[in-house]
Amino acid sequence: MVSVTRTATVTRMTSLFSSFQLGRLQLPNRIVMSPMTRSRAIGNVPNDLMATYYSQRASAGLLVTEGTSPSPHGLGYARIPGLYSPEQVAGWRLVSDAVHAAGGRIFVQLMHTGRVAHPHNLPPGGRILAPSAVAAPGTMYTDVAGLQPHPVPDAMTEAEIRAAIDEFAHSARQAIAAGLDGVEIHGANGYLVEQFLNTGPNQRTDGYGKTIPGRARFAIEVMRAAIDAIGGDRVGIRLSPHGALQGSVVDAETDALYLHLATELTTLGAAYIHVVDHASMGSPSPPDALKAALRASFKGAYILSGGYDLARAQADVAAGKGDLVAFGRPFIANPRLVDKLKTGAALRDPDPKLLFTPGAQGYSDWPLD
Ligand SMILES: Cc1cc2nc3c(=O)[nH]c(=O)nc-3n(C[C@H](O)[C@H](O)[C@H](O)COP(=O)(O)O)c2cc1C
Repeated sequence: MVSVTRTATVTRMTSLFSSFQLGRLQLPNRIVMSPMTRSRAIGNVPNDLMATYYSQRASAGLLVTEGTSPSPHGLGYARIPGLYSPEQVAGWRLVSDAVHAAGGRIFVQLMHTGRVAHPHNLPPGGRILAPSAVAAPGTMYTDVAGLQPHPVPDAMTEAEIRAAIDEFAHSARQAIAAGLDGVEIHGANGYLVEQFLNTGPNQRTDGYGKTIPGRARFAIEVMRAAIDAIGGDRVGIRLSPHGALQGSVVDAETDALYLHLATELTTLGAAYIHVVDHASMGSPSPPDALKAALRASFKGAYILSGGYDLARAQADVAAGKGDLVAFGRPFIANPRLVDKLKTGAALRDPDPKLLFTPGAQGYSDWPLD
């Protein structure tokens, strides 16, 4: 008689609660807090209130801060922080110290708003700059005059483009000086970097537009400058292919553009790409085939984001669609989101009226349960 022994095949599925090495950081779990503008930086300088808010959320594998301008010209929204002046570095030092004391890790998102701006929100000398002199659709909130139409921006000269790239590099160095763990370049959602990628706002016919390499050039030069400044293991980028925010459009070369970018970002040694799917906020989803092709062609880490709950996040990580999953809105009213997801506790909803208001209410006053 022949005895047949059956060996059970144990497939180890990657869990959202398993650790992940991101550059030089060991993340204790694969949950990222998405960048979220909260408009609490009075005078564009981070403060104790923000330090409290981020430190309350330090159990995330990685925190990515709200969009933060590398330049006085990129402060298009009311009360968003900057990261270029000594005062701002000191403000961010409060945040990084508080987050590290609470055991967390934090990247700052560098967001230059470009044409999505209003002069009322800019500091003295701030200018509205963009690839082309084409106004963003819709309006911008200002503290002094409420909603105002987006003005027509100044089309950037090559010298102004080079200056903006230098500002990103300077800001990346300041991030490290402030004790932050790295930077995420905001290349999504219709702000300056995406304004160059996208044929809605970018109507240039020079070397920064028109062709795929031309459209991708600003993003690549910003990434190269930031990576040269602080190292590829501390620089990621957020992208929103097929996004429709702030006048971004899809064209026949959109998918090829993003695949070109993914290949170039691999060559540069970027730490991660963070791909936004804003279907949960009314934008079209990037096609699944593009998401899979981006995942295959970029060799660094891949962060999924947009409309995730626990089940979908676990399924997508287990299926290898991404290494990490970013949660945005669920972190607002649930500072200890990681624990809540682990135990299946009910989640609180944020108060939409208090998303962008100054002060602690609806911001740092949520129960820490
Ligand atoms: C209040 C608020 C502010 C946001 N600010 C930013 C931002 O500064 N930078 C950014 O890349 N995305 C920003 N987003 C988009 C989020 O990062 C995220 O992609 C979006 O909320 C979808 O993810 P969710 O379904 O997990 O919330 C913001 C979203 C919200 C709700």
